[in-house]
Amino acid sequence: MTDPVPFRPLSPGTQPAYDVPGYLGTRKRYPTQALHPMPATITETTGPRFSERLFPPSIDLTRNTSRQPALGERIIVAGTITDEDDRPVPHTMVEIWQANAAGRYDHAGDQHEAPLDPNFHGAGRVFTDAEGRYRFLTIRPGAYPWPNHRNAWRPNHIHFSFFGPAFATRLVTQMYFPGDPLLASDPIFNAVPDERARDRLIAAFDLDVTEPDWALGFRFDVVLRGRSATPMEA
Ligand SMILES: [Fe+2]
Repeated sequence: MTDPVPFRPLSPGTQPAYDVPGYLGTRKRYPTQALHPMPATITETTGPRFSERLFPPSIDLTRNTSRQPALGERIIVAGTITDEDDRPVPHTMVEIWQANAAGRYDHAGDQHEAPLDPNFHGAGRVFTDAEGRYRFLTIRPGAYPWPNHRNAWRPNHIHFSFFGPAFATRLVTQMYFPGDPLLASDPIFNAVPDERARDRLIAAFDLDVTEPDWALGFRFDVVLRGRSATPMEA
């Protein structure tokens, strides 16, 4: 029998609160009554299992819809998924979704007056390798306005989902880009009170990920639990 993993609670301020006054959408979403713990049974903790056979990877978002390349600045986003003990999380499903280079989602709910790119759908999926590594080739997403407050614009970002072994273990977050001037005024990014925790949401430009004559590379390493955990959406 292996030693039990020591419990390491999240440090205060490193995850977003349920209710963030500056982020108006949270008002309708956060629980107003005390939570009831639900015992997790084998059903919730062991399935469904996702595999590359059932869900083929789609790691090149610049060519995932047609022979024509998507418009915009090609970028590589790569990193490692680890747990609180710095151990890689292998063979876990990582999904991303994002706006196109003009800041428009290929989704009926997005009516922002920016052009759609018929060659870019903005969704990708990959499974980490044995060392917990993942890699996508995509387009740098554009900023877009949203009706949260006057002149509100979301910084460039990519949405991430990490599934783990079951639906109940799914975690969702957003990756941002270094030096983005919109970060300072973004209520979603700033919903994480702790500055060092917020910084864990910002990818690092990395020449080792960058490919010559092809695409800039950004490293986004993710820690799923513990005191160094990447902030996740509640
Ligand atoms: Fe978004």
